[in-house]
Amino acid sequence: MFEAAAITAADPREFYAELVRQAEGLLAGERDWIANAANLSSLIFTSLPDLNWAGFYFLKGDTLVLGPFQGKPACVRIAMGRGVCGAAAEQRRTLRVADVNEFPDHIACDSASRSELVVPLIAGGKVLGVLDLDSPKPSRFGADDQAGIEVLAAIFLNASDAP
Ligand code: SME
Repeated sequence: MFEAAAITAADPREFYAELVRQAEGLLAGERDWIANAANLSSLIFTSLPDLNWAGFYFLKGDTLVLGPFQGKPACVRIAMGRGVCGAAAEQRRTLRVADVNEFPDHIACDSASRSELVVPLIAGGKVLGVLDLDSPKPSRFGADDQAGIEVLAAIFLNASDAP
């Protein structure tokens, strides 16, 4: 049984280097898309401080549908282009929102959320979904967080068979 050791690194790059090692170990030998998404959202949620939500939305047709996550119950369907998640999927780029109240189309699933990081999942040129992190702290996510979570998203895509 895999056991994630608490990551204590103070330097964000060391922190993410260790988290990447843990994610690779956690997903090794398992290709199930849902199981890997579930375990990765748990690893992220229990390892990163100051998160109130971490999880996946998967693109079905032109709608993002809620996948495995950790945190409070969330909106189930988000149309392509809507909210931070839909915008990241449509624009095919990571969106890092320092203050969600300043993002005109933000969808408030949990009113505690103040900042958000959304990484699109893209494989073979197709958008398959997004990996979404929310924080109750404004400006929680920096460039190191973006780079680290983008690596975790890539690990997930490489380690899992898309449906
Ligand atoms: N805030 C997101 C919706 C998803 S939840 O945060 C889990 C958005 O604006 O797309």
